[in-house]
Amino acid sequence: MARFSAAVVMAAVMIAGQAAAADSPEQIARGRYLVENVGMCNDCHTPRGSRGEPDRTRSLAGAPIDFRPTVPVRVWVSSAPAIAGPKALGWSREQMVAFLSTGTTPDGRGSLPPMPMLRLNQDDAEAVAAYLASVPLPPR
Ligand code: HEC
Repeated sequence: MARFSAAVVMAAVMIAGQAAAADSPEQIARGRYLVENVGMCNDCHTPRGSRGEPDRTRSLAGAPIDFRPTVPVRVWVSSAPAIAGPKALGWSREQMVAFLSTGTTPDGRGSLPPMPMLRLNQDDAEAVAAYLASVPLPPR
């Protein structure tokens, strides 16, 4: 009986689709590699310390964009939002994965420059979303 209830609970958790509990260390490590070494997300989303180095106590906590294009552009956003933590932007995990693989936000718009339009494949989008959710958001 105990074994039966455990199976029912597991199934319920899986159906609820809250992937957080299922994120493997390997998936999070892959997401971290993609964020830190491929997507360079910290360049824009992590604030800098006094010597211009990324402030690792506030990783992906949102930051001012401290560079500008050398030619006139119509739109240029002056800050990058916080993308750390399981509730980043108020988006569900599915919404984050969809954004990372299509470049389209849940409200159906594209990001403004200088946010690059990401087109990750499903596995990579899930890994990046898992890593982002695992990053602790510092208190403001
Ligand atoms: C060159 C700077 C830059 C880089 C690199 C960058 N971002 Fe952004 N990001 C931004 C800016 C600026 C915005 C705000 C865009 C807006 O308001 O439309 C943003 C917005 C976002 C958003 C919210 C979507 C939106 O448009 O509101 C997410 C999620 C995000 N970035 C994730 C990432 C991830 C993950 C990476 C790395 C794979 C990354 N970003 C790399 C600058 C950057």
